[in-house]
Amino acid sequence: MYILVGIWLLVTSTPLVSSSLDYVSPIKAFAKLLNFPLKISVLVCWNYDARYKFVAQFQQGSESYLLSIKSDSIENIPVVKDEERHLIIVDLNCSGTALLLEQVDPRLYNRFKWTVLSHIGGSAAEYLTQLPLLINSEVYSMTEHNGVFYIKEVYRKGPNSDIIFEPVASFSNGSIVDERISDSIVHRRKNLEREVLRASMVVTNKDTLNHLHDYRDKHVDTITKVNYLLTNYLMEYLNASVNYKIVSQWGYKDNKTGKWSGMIGDLVENRSDIGATGLFVTSDRIQYIEYIAMPSATRSKFVFHSPKLSYTNDVFLLPFNKFVWYCLVALFLLSVLALVGTVFAETQLLDIQDFNSDASVLKPSFYDTFILVLAATCQQGSAVAPKSFTARVVMIVTYITLMFLYTSYSANITALLQSPSTKIQTLEDLLNSRLKFGADDTVFNRYYFTHATEPVRHKIYEQKILQKDGSENFLPLDEGVNRIRHGLFAFHMELGVGYKIMGETYLEHEKCGLQEIQYLQVIDPWYAIQKNSSYKEFLKTGYF
Ligand SMILES: *[C@@H]1O[C@H](CO)[C@@H](O)[C@H](O)[C@H]1NC(C)=O
Ligand SMILES: *[C@@H]1O[C@H](CO)[C@@H](O)[C@H](O)[C@H]1NC(C)=O
Ligand SMILES: *[C@@H]1O[C@H](CO)[C@@H](O)[C@H](O)[C@H]1NC(C)=O
Ligand SMILES: *[C@@H]1O[C@H](CO)[C@@H](O)[C@H](O)[C@H]1NC(C)=O
Ligand SMILES: *[C@@H]1O[C@H](CO)[C@@H](O)[C@H](O)[C@H]1NC(C)=O
Ligand SMILES: *[C@@H]1O[C@H](CO)[C@@H](O)[C@H](O)[C@H]1NC(C)=O
Repeated sequence: MYILVGIWLLVTSTPLVSSSLDYVSPIKAFAKLLNFPLKISVLVCWNYDARYKFVAQFQQGSESYLLSIKSDSIENIPVVKDEERHLIIVDLNCSGTALLLEQVDPRLYNRFKWTVLSHIGGSAAEYLTQLPLLINSEVYSMTEHNGVFYIKEVYRKGPNSDIIFEPVASFSNGSIVDERISDSIVHRRKNLEREVLRASMVVTNKDTLNHLHDYRDKHVDTITKVNYLLTNYLMEYLNASVNYKIVSQWGYKDNKTGKWSGMIGDLVENRSDIGATGLFVTSDRIQYIEYIAMPSATRSKFVFHSPKLSYTNDVFLLPFNKFVWYCLVALFLLSVLALVGTVFAETQLLDIQDFNSDASVLKPSFYDTFILVLAATCQQGSAVAPKSFTARVVMIVTYITLMFLYTSYSANITALLQSPSTKIQTLEDLLNSRLKFGADDTVFNRYYFTHATEPVRHKIYEQKILQKDGSENFLPLDEGVNRIRHGLFAFHMELGVGYKIMGETYLEHEKCGLQEIQYLQVIDPWYAIQKNSSYKEFLKTGYF
């Protein structure tokens, strides 16, 4: 027994213990496994001789790295842009390393790749469990035991869970064995083992909580219900559990205190990890929350029945364009002149007596001819007619031309009277039209209408939404949709729910001629999470 213990002591304390040079090949092999980091910083307490030999040996061979070797103090942590391609190596045998690891900004564990060398198996665990390593940190420990180098990744599933050491690779006899199931961190660690994530959900209608699962009242809090189900699927993908917190609004910044309310406030102040209800991407929010995916497209627009053309235009001028009108006047004058000319020639050639005695003969007078052509224009007959063949041809041509013009004019008017106007194409046209306005009574409509600064949008609020008695035209959805039906009313609503109600309440022909104009200057609602969340890549991958 004693002999056995003696032998065991002898074996474990034999000078298998490595020098820093032994780490060169495992580190090089591991760097290759990590897909060739652009740059390697070694922060160690070795003496100059050891450093020199390390670098010299490291740069042998075909691959060469940008390698820097410095002492193990916090100032030597590099400041670079592409941190995820940067590998930092520290040696736990150095007395300064433990302090360095404690002092370093916790966020750097997620941004750099780290490799912690430790000579004696086991001692690494003690140091590393103290560190604020989270699920997205890329910290690897490399321990040597009996000539084999074991590389493990070190992380936690949640801020309060136990630290996990998971084998990544082992190196012996000059070759490395990859033990990972995938080279993607998200893929390897995505089983969160029921870790609880906190989510904030925006609910604006009390009844919504009763219908989160049963697909009823889809038009009420649509975006909440859609995203609630998606969030549950996401949690299933990650094998996480979720704790919902109900808030009443998405959140807006208070100008005085600079604090955010609602869901954004929860995310900013670390009361929740996930904003489980999609929200608009606006420039003021971008620096406070992280948008990760756009799961459900939606649009809010003004919807209205295009008014009849006669309501916006002068239909009597519309059948012909302005050049046709000019030509008509020219034709009229030309006909008059041609007739006067031919009738005058008549009087010169024929017997002058006929003209004075016969009242039905056209006289070469400008006024008489004018009246005759005017009568033809108005589709009336004339009591007088020219005598000569030439003048009659001119008259017949005038009659026939004017008849065709008259026919097309009347036909055009009939068609125009029934057609809808295309005059309202932009928000400005809408503002200048005689339509009345309303908006769906939702939190974000109230916010965006009252806070609009762009001139046309601001005018829309002041002139159309705000009434003279100080009340505002925010209507319940049903009422607004019903008023669109009766015409001359533009209603701002979420299209999906609005059209659902139209589908249920409108007659077939009432659904025709609807027009939409976008008012909000925002894109589709995106799903957001806490800024710098350690779960970001996991949620993003899960969502995609
Ligand atoms: C570990 O560090 C001590 C001094 O802190 C040194 O004497 C020893 O040689 C080092 N061991 C290795 C394997 O580098
Ligand atoms: C390394 O290789 C030698 C000979 O090739 C072998 O005896 C030894 O067991 C190997 N060691 C390991 C850890 O595989
Ligand atoms: C999810 O985590 C629980 C708790 O660790 C575990 O029992 C279960 O097997 C996991 N589910 C899957 C699908 O991995
Ligand atoms: C809040 O402050 C911004 C800029 O400081 C200003 O443009 C905006 O009008 C303010 N909003 C309110 C509601 O006071
Ligand atoms: C956020 O809150 C969680 C749970 O209360 C806590 O574990 C974590 O340390 C907090 N994060 C920050 C950055 O304060
Ligand atoms: C998120 O990380 C960036 C970059 O490291 C930092 O500037 C910012 O303050 C962090 N934001 C929060 C809310 O922690």
